[in-house]
Parts: sequence; structure tokens; C-alpha cells
Amino acid sequence: MSTIQTLEAQLLKQPKHWLITGVAGFIGSNLLEHLLKLNQKVTGLDNFATGLQRNLDEVRSLVSTEQWNNFHFIQGDICQLQDCQQACAGVDYVLHQAALGSVPRSINDPIATNATNIDGFLNMLVAARDAQVASFTYAASSSTYGDHPDLPKLEHKIGNPLSPYAVTKLVNELYANVFYKTYQFKATGLRYFNVFGKRQNPNGAYAAVIPKWVAAMMNGEAIFINGDGETSRDFCYIRNAIEANLLAALANDDARGDVYNVALGDRTTLNQLFDAIRHTLNENGVTYTQAAHYRDFRAGDVRHSQASVDKAKNLLGYQALYKIADGIKEAIPWYVAAQRAGFLDLE
Ligand SMILES: NC(=O)c1ccc[n+]([C@@H]2O[C@H](COP(=O)([O-])OP(=O)(O)OC[C@H]3O[C@@H](n4cnc5c(N)ncnc54)[C@H](O)[C@@H]3O)[C@@H](O)[C@H]2O)c1
Repeated sequence: MSTIQTLEAQLLKQPKHWLITGVAGFIGSNLLEHLLKLNQKVTGLDNFATGLQRNLDEVRSLVSTEQWNNFHFIQGDICQLQDCQQACAGVDYVLHQAALGSVPRSINDPIATNATNIDGFLNMLVAARDAQVASFTYAASSSTYGDHPDLPKLEHKIGNPLSPYAVTKLVNELYANVFYKTYQFKATGLRYFNVFGKRQNPNGAYAAVIPKWVAAMMNGEAIFINGDGETSRDFCYIRNAIEANLLAALANDDARGDVYNVALGDRTTLNQLFDAIRHTLNENGVTYTQAAHYRDFRAGDVRHSQASVDKAKNLLGYQALYKIADGIKEAIPWYVAAQRAGFLDLE
């Protein structure tokens, strides 16, 4: 049995109490679904800044009534220490996902991003430390590599941040280190690389590329690629990110308190991505015949990004079983069904 299979078998036998912050968001709601299906007790905290009630409703429809009754939702804000304290009470494992994502959002409104991602993060660390939780795992980011040129990205080689968002995610890591040195409280950071999958929001100015393109193609709209399309990213399917969260939360003491890349360890160009999405939509009954439109490179965009996932594999037992094609195949039918059900308010 793999590490994750062993751990999940133990969890099924002896359910634990988890806190997921940002539970109404993309990654948070997928973690919720997975943990409830493992019969875990889950507290969720969210203020619906970018998260959606319909994500919670969908999870409810996918689990049994008994499993749903193991979920307790707190509508609250991580910028309020009291809300964090309430959420951490009696919890074994914290999966801290709440933050304001998106580099462009942080450029437009650095104060809001700073407040949630730094003040809110610190509140969560303090509340979790005081509640003496068994482990604390948080969403870090590949943006922490900033202007470091090396590929693949190794956890100990980071450059300078290139956006206010990247600063906040770097500061999270600095606080996590200091909390260990000062209070012996370990927080494990997962540097996500372009996570994608069902329930990732396609709407709004800050949508990520995969849901944005899927939605645009379903609507018959033009797709614009910044640059020549040979820009590449390490796209990581949500199921790999879920695996990493569980492994990190349940890791042995030596492996906790560190940072890990969470990715596939591979590179996909935007041109390849465009073809894969179009092809898979076609297989799902959505025909899109337009070619991509190329425009100027976007200032500040990194040309290539690819993680080394060796550290997570060696120390956490991470497998990253889902390749990008597997993820696209699984995610696209969800978007098609959601649109047909009138579930996505596509603009
Ligand atoms: N999706 C990615 O590719 C990616 C990459 C790197 C890092 N991350 C990080 O992963 C985490 C989850 O991202 P996501 O893609 O699921 O985004 P998301 O926007 O779908 O989810 C974030 C959730 O946090 C909630 N939230 C925001 N501010 C809050 C506050 N003050 N109090 C309580 N809840 C609050 C939102 O309402 C939302 O439900 C974030 O920390 C993000 O920075 C994501």
C-alpha cells in the first residue's frame, strides 16, 4: 500500500477533526469533499470573499447525510482572531487555505491582499498554536520563486518576489519558520503550482487560465494567449494537491515544519494546454473551431515554471499520480455539466 492509502485506511478506522479555512473556495471545497467521504469530522471557516455557497451545496449533494452532518460551517473572517480561535477549538489538523489569490488582484489592491494573507495568516498561526493542534498545513505558493531562474524549482533556492501576492506568501513562510524557532510550533507549507480542477471559478478578472479558457470555449469566445504560447507551467491536478495536504497533515514530526513543492514535476506549454482543452471539450460534445489569438507577452510573466517534487516524494511519500491529461479529462465534464445545469454564471 502507498503512504496515502495507509493513512486513509487509518483515518477511516479512527476519524479525526479537521479545520479547513477557505472551505467554500476551489481547493478548500475539494478538501472538504474528500475528508467527508473519509468520514472525518470537519470544521470549515470562510467569509465568502471569493468562495461560493454553491461549492458547499455541491459537496453536500455528493456525500451522505451522515457524512454531511460531520461538517460544521463557520461564516467568519481570518482577519478576526476570535473567528480563528472559534474555528480551531478541539481541532486535530488545520488545513489553512483561506487567502486572496491572484497576482493581478494583489497589484490592484495590495492592502486587501496583505490584510488577509499576512494578518489573517498570523491570526491563524496564533489561534492554532494556542489550541495545540496536532499539525498545521498551509497553502504556500510557487510565486515565492519570484525571479530565481533555475529549473526545476528546488525548495531552498528562491529569488525575489515579483508581486504583492508573492510577498505575502513569502512572509507566510517566514512566520512559519519563526513560530517554530520561537514557540516550537510547526507549520508545513505547500507551494502549490497552478492547481486546477472542478469548482475552480472561471468567472471574473482574476480567474485562472484553465477555467477561464474552458468557459470561453464553451461560450464560443476568442482565446487570447500572451506571447507565442510556448510559455510553460507545471499544472497540478487538484487530486494531487489533496494527496499532498493529507500527507503533510499526517507526516511524522521530522517532515513537518518545512516547505514542499506541490506540482506534477512536468511542464505544459500554453499551446499544448489550448489543444488539450479544445480536444477534451470536443469529446464532451462542445465543438470549438477557433484558433488562438496571440498578443504581446504580459510584463512580469515568468517564461517557464517547473517544480522538482522530489522533496515531497522522499519526505512525505507524495506520488502525484494524476498527470495533466488525467486532470483535464476529469475536470472538463464537470464544467460542461455545470454550464448545462445553469450552475456557472458565465459572463
Ligand atoms: N489555485 C492555485 O493554483 C493556487 C496556487 C498557489 C497558491 N494557492 C493558494 O491556495 C489557497 C486556496 O486557493 P484557491 O485556488 O482555492 O482560491 P479560492 O479563491 O477559490 O479560495 C480561497 C477561499 O478563501 C476564502 N477567504 C478569502 N479571504 C478570507 C478571509 N479573510 N476569511 C475567511 N475566508 C477567506 C475565500 O472566500 C475562498 O473561499 C490560497 O491560499 C491560494 O493563495 C492557490
